[in-house]
Amino acid sequence: MTRPKAYITRRIPQPAIDIVAVACDYAIWAGEEQPVPRDVLLREAAGADGVLAILSERIDAEFLDAAPRCRVVANMAVGYDNVDVPELTRRGVLLTNTPGVLTETTADLAWALLMAAGRRIVEGHKLIEAGQWTSWSPMFMVGQDISGATLGIVGAGRIGSAVARRAAGFDMRILYHNRRPSPELEARTGAQYRGLDDLLRESDFVVVLLPLNDQTRGMFGAREFALMKPTAVFVNAARGPIVKELELAAALRQGRPWAAGLDVFEVEPIGADHPLLGLPNVVAAPHVGSATIATRTRMATTAATNLVAALTGQPVPNPVNPEVLGR
Ligand code: DGY
Repeated sequence: MTRPKAYITRRIPQPAIDIVAVACDYAIWAGEEQPVPRDVLLREAAGADGVLAILSERIDAEFLDAAPRCRVVANMAVGYDNVDVPELTRRGVLLTNTPGVLTETTADLAWALLMAAGRRIVEGHKLIEAGQWTSWSPMFMVGQDISGATLGIVGAGRIGSAVARRAAGFDMRILYHNRRPSPELEARTGAQYRGLDDLLRESDFVVVLLPLNDQTRGMFGAREFALMKPTAVFVNAARGPIVKELELAAALRQGRPWAAGLDVFEVEPIGADHPLLGLPNVVAAPHVGSATIATRTRMATTAATNLVAALTGQPVPNPVNPEVLGR
């Protein structure tokens, strides 16, 4: 029996490659840090029955035209805004993702940004490096209290709920906004549901953990920042295009919100000349929410397991468009 052919679009941890190798013939883009060039991706995908992709690959009609044999795209991420899901579904191509395995790690990073922005950690580090630490003064580098503050979570799915659970250790009041109230989250953490505007008005820390889709694109702009407290800290650990970046930069320059911690940007990667950089009240990270050795390895092995299951007719653990399975 001929083995299915897989294409892997970036070097991934070896345990994941081993999973693919057991069931498939495969090729892999050798670049460690750089994405596969589009023409190479389209050429390699031409002969593939399945593709293990990462966020930087645009999986769209052009890709599918170039990959007529492709039956599954296993995205190594929980988010899949790099994929045209309706187009895959229309053509009967399965999409899988990696939910669950990165929840806690990403919640940790959201908290790291919240604390770093609220307590001016990066600003202080830069100041020391610049030789500008001259004395201890009563109001030198003062920030915002985290303990006892109000945390507003926008998007209380898996990761948002994990962020809420951590707030118990800081005696925080928790507010959340979601498409639907979550009685489970409320019972577990004491979180209270709010409409978005009320959450923005009441929160000391606003943490965004929404998926990117037509409803959430551009959801935070000048109007929303103006509703926030002048002492509020804004954190985005979800997707960059949920925020209108130029409006956020202007709002931060005016001091409302007071600071921001950002792991994601409208177009990634960003360069040193990005309008949100160079502001003392911004802490920026290069989309590293899930970036621990253990979690990235779990994400890769989960994606590989999904890919192999789909190509060998086994039950697929994480289908995004399961409706294509019955066809
Ligand atoms: C995801 O999985 O969607 C993250 O953004 C990458 O970890």
